[in-house]
Amino acid sequence: MVSTSSIGRKLVMSISGVFLVLFLLFHSLMNLVVIISPESYNAICGFLGANWYALAGTAVLAGGFAVHILMATWLTWQNRRARGSNRYAVTGQQDSVSWASKNMFVLGLVVVGFLALHFYNFWYKMQFVELTGIGNHELAADGAYWVTQLFSQWYYCLIYIIWIVALWFHLTHSVWSALQTLGLSNTKWLTRIKVIGNIGATIVCLLFVSVPVYFLITNLFL
Ligand code: HEM
Repeated sequence: MVSTSSIGRKLVMSISGVFLVLFLLFHSLMNLVVIISPESYNAICGFLGANWYALAGTAVLAGGFAVHILMATWLTWQNRRARGSNRYAVTGQQDSVSWASKNMFVLGLVVVGFLALHFYNFWYKMQFVELTGIGNHELAADGAYWVTQLFSQWYYCLIYIIWIVALWFHLTHSVWSALQTLGLSNTKWLTRIKVIGNIGATIVCLLFVSVPVYFLITNLFL
């Protein structure tokens, strides 16, 4: 049986998840600019540099991530404790719960693991340098340089592509999970919104993946 506090926690997860998805939509659209116009991309990176509104945005974003991850850990721990070693004992669950659903937490961990690498690749070389003055200050707002430099290495293109595929699995299932939590159980509408959510997740991931794919193709074949 699901307790009321557990539903409350899932609701917090869903709301923080929706907030994170809005960030992803903005971030994936912004990244596309690096292909079209490196100068404009740098203008956006400059705007998102070490000023108060960008830092406030980073703090809110970090808070959203922290809440989402803490709640996920708590819920996963509770579910495992409730089900003991016999995790899939509920009749019919094997059929109705998809592969992504069972592995939601693991997929989340993969996404966060790659995110740590991503922070080293960009945030550490950009915002961190601007904030602390440690490192190459001239390149701190040159996002286009860092993106081009990173994706000139084919294996980094592959690493990012794998990351975005994991993110796609995570996002497509979370749409389904969030809708159930928010009480949208009317099957006709649930199916429709699920389809719209899946299309949205696919668009965000296609926008993201187009950047490493573009650099991989131009570096290898052009
Ligand atoms: C092609 C893929 C990606 C590229 C080229 C890219 C590029 C960048 C760059 C250049 C920055 C630094 C911006 C700045 O400090 O001015 C950044 C920050 C960040 N990226 Fe990405 N990114 C990609 C994918 C992702 C994905 C898939 C996620 C999340 C799952 C993500 C999450 C973040 C976060 C949380 C920040 C820090 C934002 C902040 O400081 O407020 N990125 N990214």
